[in-house]
Amino acid sequence: MTTLTTLSKDIIELPDPSSARAWCTDARSAGNTIGYVPTMGALHDGHLSLVRRSVAENDKTVVSIFVNPLQFDDPDDLAKYPRDMQSDIDMLRSVGCDMVYFGTLEGFFPELDDLNDLVKLDSGPNGAGLEGDLRPGHLDGVRTIVNRLFTTVGDCRAYFGEKDFQQTLVVTDLATQMGYPEIVVCPTLREPSGLAMSSRNQRLNDIERQRASCIFRALQAADVAWQNGERDADALRASMRKVLSEAGVEVEYADVRDPEAWTANSPFGELARAQALIAIRMGDVRLIDNMRLESIAANTDFDEDGIGQVISAGGAWIPF
Ligand code: PAJ
Repeated sequence: MTTLTTLSKDIIELPDPSSARAWCTDARSAGNTIGYVPTMGALHDGHLSLVRRSVAENDKTVVSIFVNPLQFDDPDDLAKYPRDMQSDIDMLRSVGCDMVYFGTLEGFFPELDDLNDLVKLDSGPNGAGLEGDLRPGHLDGVRTIVNRLFTTVGDCRAYFGEKDFQQTLVVTDLATQMGYPEIVVCPTLREPSGLAMSSRNQRLNDIERQRASCIFRALQAADVAWQNGERDADALRASMRKVLSEAGVEVEYADVRDPEAWTANSPFGELARAQALIAIRMGDVRLIDNMRLESIAANTDFDEDGIGQVISAGGAWIPF
């Protein structure tokens, strides 16, 4: 039987995966389609854009909030991860989410008497390189928990942000292996400066936040180079490095990859398709972002004056 803990009249809050699973099963039996947005809380407009899209495309929308210890390679990062449950629930209510559920590792792995026996899943071929190298075990931890999150919600449409590009590859691979759900990848929401919205931005002071906009400018530089016909991977990397080094930030990677034929090692030579990906550190905060490089024909619009503008992947307008 489903245990419903209804703390507000319009959003259902469930304390654990087993009650969430029963709720989803009932909702599907009643003929509803389910949209699902897995999160770690500390919600911002980026998360809410996924929830809004799910609300528009499905009968019921489910969100989970679970700060997954399995995907943190740095205990300090886990300890400092922002948590604000009441504000999260208020935001979810305001965008029409139907049910939010929470969990614990014990609740997601009920078959284990001792959590030390937990063996993480391998993140798969798309977990190699970049995040896989810089944060060993992180994407394994993502795949392991997302497997349980999908099992909890069952057949649905699951919404993920392109902001975590490599994660979208890993969860798409997982969903193919599981046979469900349908994965929907949504665009990255940015602050006016171009900085991708992230729960970790809360840990930046005003000056750091402003400096961090160099990530977007570096991605734009690669995008402009691509639009000008540059296809050489090293030249595209150099265009990003130049902007980042001028801003004086600590770069973990500034890379380009074929977004479809993901490879563990940095590709070299001419690329047919390219995703530019950056990770930097600002103090003890790690920030990542990425952008699909697209040719002008694909994303150029002209205003009434005939001035060309390029719509970047982040939705910002860049005059040229
Ligand atoms: P979290 O970082 O909370 O992100 C939840 C979802 O929101 C992810 O799909 C992420 O890509 C998306 N998101 C974050 N910032 C965004 C932005 N600026 N614009 C658009 N979407 C954005 O990603 C995770 O949690 C976890 O790894 C999780 C999948 C929940 C597994 O623990």
